[in-house]
Amino acid sequence: MRKNIVAGNWKMNLDKEEAISLVKQLLLEINVNALTQIILAPSYIYISDILGLCMNSQHVSVASQDCSVRDKGAFTGEVAASMLKSIDVEYVIVGHSERRAYFDEDNQLLKKKVIKALSNDLKVIFCCGESLEQRNKQQHFDWIRSQLSESLFSIEELESKMSNIIIAYEPIWAIGTGVNATVEQAQEMHSFIRKLILEKYNSQTAENISIIYGGSCNANNASDLFAEKDIDGGLIGGASLSAASFLSIINSFE
Ligand code: PGA
Repeated sequence: MRKNIVAGNWKMNLDKEEAISLVKQLLLEINVNALTQIILAPSYIYISDILGLCMNSQHVSVASQDCSVRDKGAFTGEVAASMLKSIDVEYVIVGHSERRAYFDEDNQLLKKKVIKALSNDLKVIFCCGESLEQRNKQQHFDWIRSQLSESLFSIEELESKMSNIIIAYEPIWAIGTGVNATVEQAQEMHSFIRKLILEKYNSQTAENISIIYGGSCNANNASDLFAEKDIDGGLIGGASLSAASFLSIINSFE
């Protein structure tokens, strides 16, 4: 059975006190079954603090919002996958549309980042998503296919590591805008992505991979989205910054 995932991407938000108090509230109130995994992606500088708080939780793991494509050396400001692994970070988000847009990360670079993360035994939340213009021109399926083919699917050794991959479908027009994809739009794309995985790998891999939705997912729309058969949870930005809204999203699974 594939896992339900609710991941909170805090982006560049929360000071240390706010971050710690949020995690303490979540840990007190999160009550999920064994099939549900909660992932928190704080800023790098709080990762160790948050890891310490979550150490004894079976259901809450920690992610980095990014990792370097380099191994080590003179790359000021960068954080290597091996460094994340050395402090027991479990997941890394790769290919978020904000990284693609503001830091010029393209499919070739993201492919290398995925390889770095997997070779350091990190699990990857790989993001893909189309712009509004692409959707309006009916190019969204082709776009998602090319994002996945040029980065994930072109990694030769990926097949044996697919259990370490979560795919996040995040239409760019829905991120931070308050306009989420409709349940039908999201389910249609998730089912398309699962079909691509079936074609590239096999039915077991396609059935086992968690595909999560991101883009203005909140306490009001999460239960409808998560009820769809190919939507296995969410990557949550704004609504992960308050315990009340994040908990209510977590509690949206039936
Ligand atoms: P949002 O962000 O929930 O604030 O739309 C989602 C994301 O960027 O992962």
